[in-house]
Amino acid sequence: MSTPVEIAPARGKLGILLVGLGAVSTTTIAGVIAIRKGLAKPIGSLTQMGTIRLGKRTDNKSPKINEFVPLATLDDLVFGGWDIFEEDVYAAACTAGVLERSLLDSIRPELEAIKPMPAVFDQRYVKRLSGPNVKKGKNKKDLADQLIADIRHFKQTHHCDRLVMMWCGSTEVFMKEGPVHQSLAAFEKGLEASDDAIPSSMVYAYAALKEGIPFGNAAPNLTADIPAMIELANKNGSPICGNDMKTGQTLIKTIIAPGLKARLIGVKGWYSTNILGNRDGEVLDDPESFKTKEESKKSALDYIFQPHLYPDLYKDISHVVRINYYPPRGDNKEGWDNIDIVGWLGYPMQLKINFLCRDSILAAPIVLDSALFLDLAKRAKMHGIQEWLSFYYKAPMHAPEVYPEHDLFIQLMKLKNTLRYLKGEDLITHLGREYYD
Ligand SMILES: NC(=O)c1ccc[n+]([C@@H]2O[C@H](COP(=O)([O-])OP(=O)(O)OC[C@H]3O[C@@H](n4cnc5c(N)ncnc54)[C@H](O)[C@@H]3O)[C@@H](O)[C@H]2O)c1
Repeated sequence: MSTPVEIAPARGKLGILLVGLGAVSTTTIAGVIAIRKGLAKPIGSLTQMGTIRLGKRTDNKSPKINEFVPLATLDDLVFGGWDIFEEDVYAAACTAGVLERSLLDSIRPELEAIKPMPAVFDQRYVKRLSGPNVKKGKNKKDLADQLIADIRHFKQTHHCDRLVMMWCGSTEVFMKEGPVHQSLAAFEKGLEASDDAIPSSMVYAYAALKEGIPFGNAAPNLTADIPAMIELANKNGSPICGNDMKTGQTLIKTIIAPGLKARLIGVKGWYSTNILGNRDGEVLDDPESFKTKEESKKSALDYIFQPHLYPDLYKDISHVVRINYYPPRGDNKEGWDNIDIVGWLGYPMQLKINFLCRDSILAAPIVLDSALFLDLAKRAKMHGIQEWLSFYYKAPMHAPEVYPEHDLFIQLMKLKNTLRYLKGEDLITHLGREYYD
């Protein structure tokens, strides 16, 4: 045991501000309300269903995570958000078509009460979208100030003690770090000058961090993953996490790949293709938004296989990722993976995976857990990048001097050890000598 970290109690209401009230956000909000009413179970959520082993295996001590660390309860959550469409959350959830109408109807008044605030949006960053509910401002700094006013107004009218913001908006066009992203001073000048290298998502992230609010990025955009934002997060005491939730095909990849690597089974090629018919699929049909997604999806295998350490097994893997927009499927994505693997003496084998998944059903518990853990981090005074939340993300944010950890099982160990560390419990190394001495 060591000294526990001081964590402020989770007192009062926690406001969760979601940027983009589309499929993921509405499935999260409706899910939390339904769970609160006992209509469904929080399957997939570590904060609601997960346990954590403490001490030796013989101690038989595995409390639930939400009884071990002080998290906001579902009853304490209040939701709000922004969207370029004016539909309330009930109407938006019907449009998204993820949840059954009967479930939505049973919580309709609560969903209808959540109406999107006007968005900061510029079509140059999401080519396939346009909508009427958009703010006007003299420059990007003015737009950020309008968001800050929204945040403060929300906090006051909903009597929130604390807030968290998550970007659940559409995937923006591919961008690389530029000079305006290198420091807070440069970024603030860029806001005044409405620099093109500042997309809408960065205006939201800036507003949240300026207010000292934790920020998570569910999409693959750069957003908060630039030196200027990290500087601001550290300065104002905001924890940040992202990028791009690990849900369908990449989740399966980061489950299968560490297994192949553990047994030193070689991989020659990994071909992944998807069909997807929701609005996300439509946005990703634009090559510039797809490029952002492709980069985020492709990096995981390289880091897991470490071809520089195992050139005979993993050098020059042919890794292909495709997403095709196919409207009849709606949110029910279908993914196919063909993996060409190599065994003893170089004999080839193949592994085929056909995953019929529901994207937003896999995403909603990640949004909930990220928000609750970010709030915990804030109360524990953990600022800047929260690498322990990389468990949830395809392109995890990480310190510049280390490579990102993509192996789901190492990520889970890191997450649980962080919780043990916060509470002053012994970290679990799985050495286990004590049972045999
Ligand atoms: N569903 C998943 O499994 C999954 C996994 C990883 C990442 N993501 C990412 O999460 C994001 C949301 O996915 P989704 O399926 O809910 O998409 P969606 O298209 O249903 O919802 C996105 C919403 O964001 C709104 N929006 C876009 N730009 C905005 C802005 N500047 N301000 C406010 N609102 C804005 C759109 O109008 C839309 O309603 C996407 O970027 C997607 O790539 C989703």
